[in-house]
Amino acid sequence: MNYKRYAYINTIGCQMNVYDSEKLADILKSHGFEMTREMDKADIVVCNTCSIRHKAEEKAFSFLGKFAKEKKKRPHLITVMAGCVAQQEGEKAFARVPHLDIVLGTQAISRFGRHLDAFKSGKRQIVDIEESDVIFEAMPDIPVSSGSDFDENKISRFITIMQGCDNYCTYCVVPYVRGRERSRSHAGIVDEITLLANSGIREITLLGQNVNSYGVKEEGISFPQLLEKVSAVEGIARIRFATSHPKDLSLELIHAIRDIDKVCNHLHLPVQSGSNKILKKMNRGYTRETYLQRINALKKACPGISLSTDIIVGFPSETLEDFNDTMELLKTVEFDSIFAFAYSDRSSAPAAKFLDQVEETEKKRRLNLLLELQDVYTDKKNKALVGNSIEVLVEGKSLKQHDGFIKASDKMKQMTGRSASNKIIHFPSENSAIGDLITIRIENAYPHSLWGYPLGVEKNEK
Ligand code: SAH
Ligand code: SF4
Ligand code: F3S
Repeated sequence: MNYKRYAYINTIGCQMNVYDSEKLADILKSHGFEMTREMDKADIVVCNTCSIRHKAEEKAFSFLGKFAKEKKKRPHLITVMAGCVAQQEGEKAFARVPHLDIVLGTQAISRFGRHLDAFKSGKRQIVDIEESDVIFEAMPDIPVSSGSDFDENKISRFITIMQGCDNYCTYCVVPYVRGRERSRSHAGIVDEITLLANSGIREITLLGQNVNSYGVKEEGISFPQLLEKVSAVEGIARIRFATSHPKDLSLELIHAIRDIDKVCNHLHLPVQSGSNKILKKMNRGYTRETYLQRINALKKACPGISLSTDIIVGFPSETLEDFNDTMELLKTVEFDSIFAFAYSDRSSAPAAKFLDQVEETEKKRRLNLLLELQDVYTDKKNKALVGNSIEVLVEGKSLKQHDGFIKASDKMKQMTGRSASNKIIHFPSENSAIGDLITIRIENAYPHSLWGYPLGVEKNEK
């Protein structure tokens, strides 16, 4: 009998989970499953989970909890919890989700196939939260799929270059759920990117919790040297990376952003707080002053660089004065965008035991004030680009229409893409294709997008 078996993956959390989900999909495909976007059709459901904040963790449990009824109807359905909550909970996951079949920790991705086989042979309630030194190079028998199963955008991919974290910020679960920091070999990374480039990928984002310490433990090449190697891969037009830790941001990296053409003129540099007292309690290893010095060095070396950051409000003992220091820092730096979060207590992280927790309603109030302030700068930064000509990497057709702009027609298609500074740009175009680099003259700026015309296309052209 020839029937198809389908797999559905729900990815919660950061870009590293997106990358891991791609690997899980590759393994599932090599085990005869086809990926589906329809949950009801699935014979196996994988939830790749995140435990960075309480809400993310709850999302995972509520998603997987839903399958209790479904499994009664369809006993053959396999349910898998992967990722950071799986690593954190281990065996305990079965207490909350009794119908779960496999708990796959963050360092067990490459062993997923083995567990699927064991399940097929009758083994039940499988848990693997073992640590492992090997990362993805250890899966040479699993072909890397060319297109992403999760993203419509077929030209851009994430690549994890290092795993784990040794920084132990006091609020953060990552060191406990992703293990010690370790870097992949540069040859393995370049090989994987070459494969992707050969299949049409034009943009890659290199991922690590602190890319500045890439290769340090292994005494290998430095991160800026890795950027050089990646930039030599033919077909790759743009290189992004995340995350840089302010304490380790080197002059060498600043120069790499300035000097390597393919490296985008954009840096995500999480500050977390503008108060020295709070930064110390967070164990971030830098002060407000050193952060600002590094920002100044970046702005000087890389004019027009776009900057983004992460901020936590309401960390234990954050006073209004501390919060105000963060607000002031936003005014000083003028970030292009921020990701801001209300502090969430994580029982495995030391800050859970800190005194003077801030009330939830007060955290929300501060978060809103911060986001409102940032809107001013996001808008200002976008408006400053009106009249400029910007190179855009075309990502696909745009569903957005805007009054006053050329409407999609037989001749003109509405397309969308991103600038090197990571801004979304919509434009009409006759012949641009996904993956093309095209120069757009910006006409209008909105909080979340820019609109313009390709050079040579006039506004009144229909
Ligand atoms: N390695 C990166 C970030 C990893 S987590 C770095 O060092 O910046 C992504 C973001 O989640 C963090 O930058 C932080 O802003 C936020 N975050 C982490 N733990 C949190 C917690 N307990 N509560 C609220 N936000 C948190
Ligand atoms: Fe978490 Fe800090 Fe490591 Fe980032 S650097 S992952 S915030 S412990
Ligand atoms: Fe979440 Fe794990 Fe990433 S906790 S943010 S999925 S490393």
